[in-house]
Amino acid sequence: MCGIIGMVGVKNAIPYLMEGLSRLEYRGYDSAGIAFLNGNQLACKKALGKLENLRKTIQNDARNTNIGIGHTRWATHGKPSFDNAHPHISPNAKFAVVHNGIIENADSLKNEHFPNTSFASQTDTEVIVHLLQKYYNGNMVQTVSCVQKLLLGSYALGIISTEYPNTLFCTAKGSPLIAAVGEVGNFIASDVSAVFGYASGYYNLSNGEICAVQENDIKFFNNDAVCIEKQIEPIIADALINDKQSFEHYMMLEMMQQPDAVRNTLEPLFINGEMCLDSFVPDSHFLKNSLSKIVIVACGSAYHAGLVGERLFEDLARVETKAQIASEFRYSNPIINQNTLAIFISQSGETADTLAALRLAKLKNAKVLSIVNVRSSAIANESDYVIYTKAGREVAVATTKAYSSQLAVLYALSLYISKIRQSVEGEMYDGLIKQLLCLPQKISETIINTQSLVKCLAQHFYTQNDMYFIGRQLDFAVSMEGSLKCKEISYIHSESYAAGELKHGTISLIEQGTPVIAVATDETVIGKTVSNMREVEARGAKTVLVTFEKYKDCTDKSEVIVIPETASQFSASLSVIPLQFLSYYMAKLRGCDIDKPKNLAKSVTVE
Ligand code: AGP
Repeated sequence: MCGIIGMVGVKNAIPYLMEGLSRLEYRGYDSAGIAFLNGNQLACKKALGKLENLRKTIQNDARNTNIGIGHTRWATHGKPSFDNAHPHISPNAKFAVVHNGIIENADSLKNEHFPNTSFASQTDTEVIVHLLQKYYNGNMVQTVSCVQKLLLGSYALGIISTEYPNTLFCTAKGSPLIAAVGEVGNFIASDVSAVFGYASGYYNLSNGEICAVQENDIKFFNNDAVCIEKQIEPIIADALINDKQSFEHYMMLEMMQQPDAVRNTLEPLFINGEMCLDSFVPDSHFLKNSLSKIVIVACGSAYHAGLVGERLFEDLARVETKAQIASEFRYSNPIINQNTLAIFISQSGETADTLAALRLAKLKNAKVLSIVNVRSSAIANESDYVIYTKAGREVAVATTKAYSSQLAVLYALSLYISKIRQSVEGEMYDGLIKQLLCLPQKISETIINTQSLVKCLAQHFYTQNDMYFIGRQLDFAVSMEGSLKCKEISYIHSESYAAGELKHGTISLIEQGTPVIAVATDETVIGKTVSNMREVEARGAKTVLVTFEKYKDCTDKSEVIVIPETASQFSASLSVIPLQFLSYYMAKLRGCDIDKPKNLAKSVTVE
């Protein structure tokens, strides 16, 4: 969601602000803006829509300024508009603010502190500049400390002021923000990618910490404005390479990177060919004797990965498991305790609902383990245990390689717990480990074998208004992911259904030519799913079956997409590949913005 960049340095800050904003585009936005010091006055440029529009407004107006802040806004309070775009400027024109997060008490702050003031925007952010102006006491750190104590909700704030022409201020609570050290100056940003190449190290801000950034100095304060020390972290280059290579879209590049992502994720979980998760999970005594329940909590695709995990922890490890959507879990009263393992899955490690759910699980004394792709992100930092997926930087809003890596961790974890609890042992365990290690190769084969057939199928389906994805058991979990991909990037309405549930209502929507994509890899229920395909075919549906070679003849009425053989427990990693391709190619034919679908953000940092 919203992205923040700020710079104070020797050179003109504007090109660095614009480059930073373009690197934050992937987070999702609908307007953008910058504020900078022009002599001893604040200047502000904003534009609705793409960064290109902002670029045009500053093109003929590029000033040599050493300090500025920039913002990409994903609308929450107030529609996308020029007035609602950030930065916001105080009425006395002395303070400019950019904000990521939500100020939950913005309306009551306005009523209480500024009952007779009319605000220029509908945002929750604007009240902050009014508060800075009202409470400014000659000391900016103290003023920020005082103002942030009035704010409820989450925020990362970047602030510049005419009172401090050489200092950039920032503070963060519940929203990501870093301060970074560079050669041409120092920076603040929503994430490290925005300053990669210009900065060598960074500090993470949290818990209302305040930071004063100057060209050659960064100072930190706690939320009471008392000076504190913080540990610098190096910026690791390979995690941030931001190059589409020869691919037209990041999504295609990232789909192709799935074999490596899964291989790299599994690699640290094995020592001398033996799976060993001792350093990543609670001790084996707990897992064997105390663990009574697992909850898996996440959003979107990460939740869909969690649904696969739910099935495997129950089937293999024989532990009662429930996968839940984080935005629901956080407002529930879950039955969890010190004998529960609560697993939180997130690519970004920033998702607001997942983070809030994690805090609830901690309050209830559950052991908290997260599966996260972004190092040192909030979810990773607040967990008792972390297993990092090694998908590398994922830029496309639609996740592919991170989802595949999450599945790999869940496979490994469920097998590891199964072995400790002796629910899977001997030949079966060895066989599954062997299959697990073959998965990267099998994913490569799936990519090679299915891509062109799916590209042709997309030609038949891309003009449809509705599509259905069906499956049973693990195949149902995959069909949910296929359906989400379809909606997310090709904007075709789609639904996924447990195949046996269709005739309880949804089948009335099937018309002549409606595409129904069936995923059926589970031997125990494949016959049932094929019967459900017959039912929709009888009502005019055009069906496609995704299955293993050995089942390809179980239908003669459908297109069949064959995936390589693997253990049925791991089939999701292969059957999802053609579904990703299908949504990609349909989106391409429909002319959609594949990497940055409308209305969506890569990191959902507000609830
Ligand atoms: C999937 O393609 C989506 N972009 C979305 O559902 C995503 O998985 C969800 O927002 C969770 O994000 P996270 O993994 O960063 O927590």
